[in-house]
Amino acid sequence: SAYYRIAVDGFSSCGKSTLARQIAEVLGAVYIDSGAMYRAATLLAIQNNCIRDWHLDTGCFMPVIQRATIEFRTTDNHLLLNEKDVEKEIRSPEVADHVSEVASHGFIREIMVQMQRSYSEKSPVVMDGRDIGTHVFPDAEVKIFLTAEPRIRAERRYQELQEQSVNISFDEVFENVKKRDEKDQNRSVAPLRKADDAIEINNSYLSRSEQLEQALEIVHKKI
Ligand code: C5P
Repeated sequence: SAYYRIAVDGFSSCGKSTLARQIAEVLGAVYIDSGAMYRAATLLAIQNNCIRDWHLDTGCFMPVIQRATIEFRTTDNHLLLNEKDVEKEIRSPEVADHVSEVASHGFIREIMVQMQRSYSEKSPVVMDGRDIGTHVFPDAEVKIFLTAEPRIRAERRYQELQEQSVNISFDEVFENVKKRDEKDQNRSVAPLRKADDAIEINNSYLSRSEQLEQALEIVHKKI
């Protein structure tokens, strides 16, 4: 490949996007949020009434997703779906409710992976997700696998939700984190798994700047 690719994979709520964005900024690479792409596909499915009874109607959605464009605006990293800024819409609870179903379909993953690889042909990329080091870029120049103890991730998530005045107990958030981990690791399509050649960073007791420092040390050994 002409440009380097940095994969940042890991569990949910462990700060992948923060780290990936910071690495991209330091290196002058393009940051790609692959989760946002699955969210955008989900938004499009909802808008076209292709989700019925919690299931994606593939006959309905296939022609829609095949014509769709997903780009990241370089100025602010916002996701553009068919040239429209949908950064806010893709973070809605409705999209969150349906994204795992949409992301479980092989034909959708194939289209997303194709787009992800095409971005890397135009510039160096830092991409975060679940299957970037294992599937999207198995020969990525740098692979980071980010982890943190489940209790710590739940505490961070709980803090975030408190700030948004969401009424939920810590125990519920903790259960939720554990359930999602289990789902992410055990699903049949693109399960979350550390690539053999990925370097693990456990950020349970690291500050953001310490985490970035460790990541850049790994990056500078490889590129
Ligand atoms: O990272 P984020 O939570 O925004 O991702 C949303 C969802 O998209 C995940 O829960 C997962 O179902 C899916 N996803 C995926 N493969 C990726 C990134 C995200 O299946 N590489």
